[in-house]
Parts: sequence; structure tokens; C-alpha cells
Amino acid sequence: MSGRAWHQSGPVLGIETSCDETAAAALAQDGTILAEAVLSQGDHQAFGGVVPEIAARAHLAHLPRLVAQVMNEAGLGFGDLRAIAASAGPGLIGGLIVGSGYARGAALAHGLDYLAINHLEAHALTARLPSLGLRADFPYLLLLASGGHCQAIAVEGVGRHIRLGGTIDDAAGEAFDKVAKLLGLGWPGGPALERLAREGKPNHPFPRPLLGRKGCDFSFSGLKTAVAQHVADMPPGALPRQVAADIAASFQAAVVAVMVDRARHAMTMIRAAHPACSLLVVAGGVAANAVLRVALQETAAAQGFTFAAPPLRLCTDNAVMVAWAAIERLRLGGSDPIDVVPRPRWPLAELAAP
Ligand code: KG4
Ligand code: ZN
Repeated sequence: MSGRAWHQSGPVLGIETSCDETAAAALAQDGTILAEAVLSQGDHQAFGGVVPEIAARAHLAHLPRLVAQVMNEAGLGFGDLRAIAASAGPGLIGGLIVGSGYARGAALAHGLDYLAINHLEAHALTARLPSLGLRADFPYLLLLASGGHCQAIAVEGVGRHIRLGGTIDDAAGEAFDKVAKLLGLGWPGGPALERLAREGKPNHPFPRPLLGRKGCDFSFSGLKTAVAQHVADMPPGALPRQVAADIAASFQAAVVAVMVDRARHAMTMIRAAHPACSLLVVAGGVAANAVLRVALQETAAAQGFTFAAPPLRLCTDNAVMVAWAAIERLRLGGSDPIDVVPRPRWPLAELAAP
């Protein structure tokens, strides 16, 4: 649906509320970030994981203030915008309703275009943000590893993403969080586990699920169970720090070995379809893991690929990526009907090119 025509070149406001980050960002159509804000909800710490109802209420409480802050910083009024975009799935439906409801209401009130952005596509296109200088031309391979997703994707164009493989059980970040919990670390557990692992030796041979298997699917639940069993077999009482550190290092080594093996297969797979493809991009919170980054960089180089990772704040959930995905779609003439509803499940395969 086309909105008012006189702000065709105006900035785009992006909104992200699909999990536990409440975020807003305003981008000029050339990709310049005018203002951005992210609130990582601390409300879930006591529960050791995201509680959907609490997340939705927190989005409702914080989103209007974050949007006002971003609009202020960017020196914008709603009437200056070209469009408003929100993550419309996949994700926790309560949060998606809050974010997309807000965006739809504001778009309607101010006569702007609305874009319902697929959150996975937003992650997938982030590397193309011009100011990052990563020169991510299509096609490229994306490894997306977060608390909710673990997928290898051939990014062929806007709305053209081929899922090469994905997890058949837990996401990589989920496994980090669960093992961290077993070791008595806080939540989210990934960063704490990585810190502890630095003090340990990877001396325990935990299983490496699907290693060497055809394709590039991932599996982490057997590894997580093996760690749980190992911890249960320990003498009762708190784990000595060195024991916990060795377990953390051994678990992390297993995850990295699996990710590297799967990435290598994915690079072979994408090369079969696109012989000239030579870029591996990572995204998602797990991409913050330094050991994993180094290992992936080496694997990529060995396969003749360049390795690119957006800065951490753009790897984890944020609204810059939502606004940028919207700009990519707008450039191809895409926008969405104002009454399109958010989708808790929205596989990339069901996404259409604009
Ligand atoms: O992308 P993200 O911020 O949120 C979503 O899940 O969408 O990813 C968060 C996940 C959590 O599971 C967290 O434990 C993990 O990323 N993570 C890490 C590290 N930093 C964050 N995992 C391993 N090593 C890290 N340094
Ligand atoms: Zn995400």
C-alpha cells in the first residue's frame, strides 16, 4: 500500500520485539544509521530463560519511550518518515503483536508505508548495510546462531533465501544457556560460559553430534544431555571451579568442532550452486564467541572464503537490521498491507521477493 508520496526519500523507522530485546532505529534510505536504541530486558534473569508473557509486557512498557528517544535523537517527526517496519515473525507472538501493532498504528495514523519484516531475513541482510563496508554482494553464505535459531542459509537476494540446513533440536545459544545453567552460571549463559572456559582445558571428549554427516544440519541436544550426565555423575555438592572450567572448555570445543564441520559442508553446498560464492557471514549472539569466530575464520580461509561478521550489537537482536531489511525491500518496490498479521512461525522458505 502506498502512503503519502511526498516523503519517498525519507528515513525508515525499524522496530524489533520478537524475543527479549526491545529495539528501535531510524535509518536514512542510503543505510546511514540516524539513531538506534536497544533495551535487553533483564526481567527474565530470575527464571533462567525468556518468559513470553513478561517479554510482551516489557515491550509494551518500553517501546514507546525507545521510539521517542530514537526519533528525538534523529531529529525526526513521524511525518518525515518514508515507512515504518517491524519484525513480524518468527518469534514470540506476544512481543510480535506489540511491535507490529505499534508500527501499524503509527503507519496508519501518519499515512506511511508499513513493512512486515521477517526477523531471519533482517539478520541475513545486515551484512549488506553499506556503512559496515563488508561488501556482501549476493550470493553469500550466512551462518545464523542465536538463542532461538541455528541455520545455514544461502542468501541469494532479497526474499530469496535457501535454507541449506538447520538444527534438528536445540539452537546453539540454547545449548550454551542450558549448560551454563548446569554449571551454576547466570543467564544468558553464553558469555559467562565462554569466560569460564578460558580457565579450563578441553580434556573431556563430549560427543560432537552430526560431525562428518552429509549436509549441514545441526544438533545440540545429545551434547547437552552428555554434559548433564557428566555433571550428575560428579560427587554431590558444588563443582570445584577447575572442574567446571574444564567442562565449559570441553563443551565449547565440541560446539565449535560441530559448527566448523557444518560450516565447511555448507560452503561446499553453496559452491555447488554458486561456484563464484566466496563470502561466509555470521550473525546471532553465538557469533560473539571469540573461539568460534577464530575457528570459522580459519575454516573459511581454508575453503577460499572471506569471513565477515557484523559488529556484535548488529549480530544480536536489534532494530537497525529491521529498518535496513525494509529499505532493501522498499528499493525493490515492496511494502505490506496494513492488516498483515505477525507469524510466530515464518520460515525463510515462505518469504517472497518484493
Ligand atoms: O541473537 P541473540 O542476542 O538473541 C536471540 O536468541 O535471538 O542470541 C543470544 C544467544 C544466547 O543464547 C547467548 O547465550 C548466546 O547468544 N551468546 C553466546 C555468547 N554471547 C551470547 N554464546 C556463546 N558465546 C558467547 N560469547
Ligand atoms: Zn534474532
